[in-house]
Amino acid sequence: MNVGSTKENNLEKRISITPETSKSFKNLGLNVFLEKGYGESLGFKDQHYLENGVEILNSSKEVVSKSDLICKVNLPNEEELNVMKENSYLIVSSINSEKDKNYLNNKIKVFALDLLPRITRAQSMDVLSSQANLAGYRAVIESIYEYEKAIPMMMTAAGTVPAAKVLIVGAGVAGLQAIATAKRLGAIVSATDVRTTAKEQVESLGGKFLMVEGSENLETKGGYAKEAGEDFKKKQAKMLENAASKNDIIICTALIPGKPAPRILSENVIQKMKPGSIIFDLAVTQGGNSAYSEVDKIVNKNGVKIIGISNVMNKLPLTASSLFAKNVFSFVRNLYSKEKKQFILNMEDEIIKSTLIQGRN
Ligand code: NAI
Repeated sequence: MNVGSTKENNLEKRISITPETSKSFKNLGLNVFLEKGYGESLGFKDQHYLENGVEILNSSKEVVSKSDLICKVNLPNEEELNVMKENSYLIVSSINSEKDKNYLNNKIKVFALDLLPRITRAQSMDVLSSQANLAGYRAVIESIYEYEKAIPMMMTAAGTVPAAKVLIVGAGVAGLQAIATAKRLGAIVSATDVRTTAKEQVESLGGKFLMVEGSENLETKGGYAKEAGEDFKKKQAKMLENAASKNDIIICTALIPGKPAPRILSENVIQKMKPGSIIFDLAVTQGGNSAYSEVDKIVNKNGVKIIGISNVMNKLPLTASSLFAKNVFSFVRNLYSKEKKQFILNMEDEIIKSTLIQGRN
């Protein structure tokens, strides 16, 4: 069986097959086809791939037409889609809309990795976790870059520089990594979440948990957040208005699966922040956790900079690709039967069932 991948569009710097994972594919008994210059933008020369047994082909069309399974971060372009083999497989990181689904033709079977169930067996394939973890880290780095003061406390002969205060809103995957990163850099960190179970995790990383007074635990059985009611939102807004004036950087990562991003930082909260403060809105593409945040812009509101970056992964594409490619490989390993030398669509496997968005028989 042949696995292939082609270059992404100009807006995406990540790739799905690294020289390291191409070796793993070969060890599994699969052939790997890549387009000429596939990993060049990340410094992976064709030679690196050739050394790992990959076949480099001249065009993306050639790769796609010869492959039984295509791995991509984003959807293939129309030309590629048209030459995909009948009944071949496509693995992508996510499918965002009905328009995307309509764009795909019926002759192929499509998996979206963002639909993986959060079960132990799927952990090594979990692209949401691997990428959000990096997003949380990078959100802090980007914020610090825009912040015009130092982060750690420094005692110098010329005087003492106080440590910056960082508040993380939403202590999930991205939020916890943001806490750890800000702590490592010497900031005084606090965090808040609607799931009161997050308190222990925040504290274990050295952060202070800000609890919305009198609130219940808004957590589903699956461990995700439930939508907050009006009473909670009012209490949370009050708490944040108070916290805003005391913090220098706020990182927003709040998410409720399947819903638009909850609006948490209002105009009022932002008004209370000191000039020179930073807000980083990781949820900007889902409508934003913060007022004024705009996709791929830094908005300046009375001296407060509100940062929105649509694809934070493009800021660290090498690490992001390395983890994404390992997630993809783990998924393919589960799909492939070494004994039968073919991909098996086992609909009793929760991993397959949850991620297959097109091609059920
Ligand atoms: P997650 O589900 O692990 O964490 C979200 C957290 O927000 C949960 O702990 C949840 O309880 C909390 N939350 C929900 N409503 C809240 C509220 N009203 N107040 C306080 N906390 C609340 O999600 P994950 O994976 O950490 O992703 C976080 C965000 O980062 C998402 O919006 C995601 O799409 C975004 N993201 C953006 C990337 C980019 O390149 N721009 C890359 C990766 C993630």
